[in-house]
Amino acid sequence: MAGYPLCEYFDMKTFTDQDIAGMDPLARVQLATSLPGSKPISLIGTTDVAGQCNLAPFSSLLHLGSSPCLLGMVSRPDHVDRHTLSNLREIQAWTINHLHPAILDAAHQCSARYPKNVSEFAATGLTAHFHPGFPAPFVAESRFRIGLELVDIMPIPANDTRLIVGRVVLVQVAAENVLENGGIDLIGVDCLASTALDTYFQLQPLARLAYAKPDRAPQRI
Ligand SMILES: Cc1cc2nc3c(=O)[nH]c(=O)nc-3n(C[C@H](O)[C@H](O)[C@H](O)COP(=O)(O)O)c2cc1C
Repeated sequence: MAGYPLCEYFDMKTFTDQDIAGMDPLARVQLATSLPGSKPISLIGTTDVAGQCNLAPFSSLLHLGSSPCLLGMVSRPDHVDRHTLSNLREIQAWTINHLHPAILDAAHQCSARYPKNVSEFAATGLTAHFHPGFPAPFVAESRFRIGLELVDIMPIPANDTRLIVGRVVLVQVAAENVLENGGIDLIGVDCLASTALDTYFQLQPLARLAYAKPDRAPQRI
C-alpha cells in the first residue's frame, strides 16, 4: 500500500514543551484540551448526602475495560471547591448523561461556577430523574445515560488532577438504539462530541472495518 499524502509536504507548526509552558494560560488550556482530538461530552450528575443536586459537563471520559465494565474521568485540581468531586466522595456514585443538540446550551451553562446551594438542574431547566435504588440524579432529557458506583479516586501528583474510576451499574437508552452487535447507536441518539472547552460536534458515520488481520487488507463492512 502506498500513495498516502505525507504531512512533511505541509507547513507544520511545531510546539515544544517549553513553548507550551510559556503560553498564555487560557490559550494553553485550549491547546491542551484539543490534543486528545475529539472527545466525548456528557453531563455528570451527582448529589450530596443532603440531597443537593449538581450537574457539570465533563469531556475526559475514558473506557477502562469491559469486565468488569469500568469508566474513568479526570477531575481538575481541587484548589477551589469541586462539587462533582466532593459529592461523589459522599455518595460514592454518579451518572453520565450524554448530550444531544436540544440540550447543548443548557449543558454548557452547567459549567458556570454556581454556588453549592444552587442546583444546575434548577438553573438551566433540565429535569432530575432518580432511578429506584440509585442515589445519583440522571438528566431526564438525555437519551443515553449511565449510572456508576465509585471504585477509586487516583491522584495524579504531576499536576494535581485525579482519575475517578467507576463501575457501570446501569445503562439506559431507547431499545431501538441498541445495535444487534451489542453496541449503542450513537448516531441514533444524536450523541455529541467536543474539543477544548467551547466547541461541540455532531457525529457523521464514515466506515466500519472488519477485525484487522496481518494477512488481510483492510476490509470495509
Ligand atoms: C466542554 C467542557 C468540558 C469539561 N470537561 C471537564 C473535565 O473533563 N473535567 C473537569 O474537572 N472539568 C471539566 N470541565 C469544567 C467543569 O464543567 C467546570 O469546572 C464545572 O464548573 C465543575 O462544576 P462542579 O464544581 O459543580 O463539579 C469542562 C467544561 C466544559 C465546558
